[in-house]
Amino acid sequence: MKIIEAKDYQDLSKIAADYIINKVNSFPKLKLGLATGGTPIGIYKNLIADHQKNGTSYREITTFNLDEYVGLAGHNQNSYRYYMNHHLFDHIDIQKKNTFIPRGDVDNIQSECSAYEDLIQKHKGIDLQILGIGTNGHIGFNEPGTSFKSETHVVNLTASTRMANARYFNSLEEVPTRAITMGIGTIMKSKEIILLISGEQKKEALNRLLTGTVDESFPASALKNHPYVTIIADKAAIAGLK
Ligand code: F6R
Repeated sequence: MKIIEAKDYQDLSKIAADYIINKVNSFPKLKLGLATGGTPIGIYKNLIADHQKNGTSYREITTFNLDEYVGLAGHNQNSYRYYMNHHLFDHIDIQKKNTFIPRGDVDNIQSECSAYEDLIQKHKGIDLQILGIGTNGHIGFNEPGTSFKSETHVVNLTASTRMANARYFNSLEEVPTRAITMGIGTIMKSKEIILLISGEQKKEALNRLLTGTVDESFPASALKNHPYVTIIADKAAIAGLK
């Protein structure tokens, strides 16, 4: 794993956005894997600013998001579909029909999972996957203990993940208890991965990732077996390295 050290969150967002923009310009049919949460928001702002200023086009780009809450329809402000439209897709020239996010509001969640996995494979996989990380090492919604071979599946969210995400909801009770997520096996099939780690609260996670063993109790450690991962971490996260 290669590490790029960013000064701060702004710098991390700019470095990651420039990398993506460069890829999009070089490969106009790129298949891009995207994440939600707090960390990528700065990247999406940079992508929008660049699109407006330099005209970088996403017309032929296809995107696959990592995850979605079970039970939330796309118009729900807390759904990841809403987040992606609001933070990125509505402001660039991407064709919405080429933006894929698991559906959380379907009757048959299991068949949604296998259909999503098939869809990614039908598109011959993800070229570049953007990831954030949870303080417990989760990637996507793959919590500690998830099999490294897992494909897209339904998860019961842990109390700590629900609490971390409660900031976006009116109350903790409103945070869904389940989500659909790409599996670790799905993520590992991506040709290239960028892992974003920002802030003091992630320093233990970065330290464990770099110094710990590869095992299922720390989901992000699977990435050590991937041939093409770049970590972009800011000084606040790097400060925890022992
Ligand atoms: C989001 C996702 C999660 C987040 C992680 C970090 O689609 O899959 O794994 O990347 O929870 O979230 P933030 O960036 O809010 O710290």
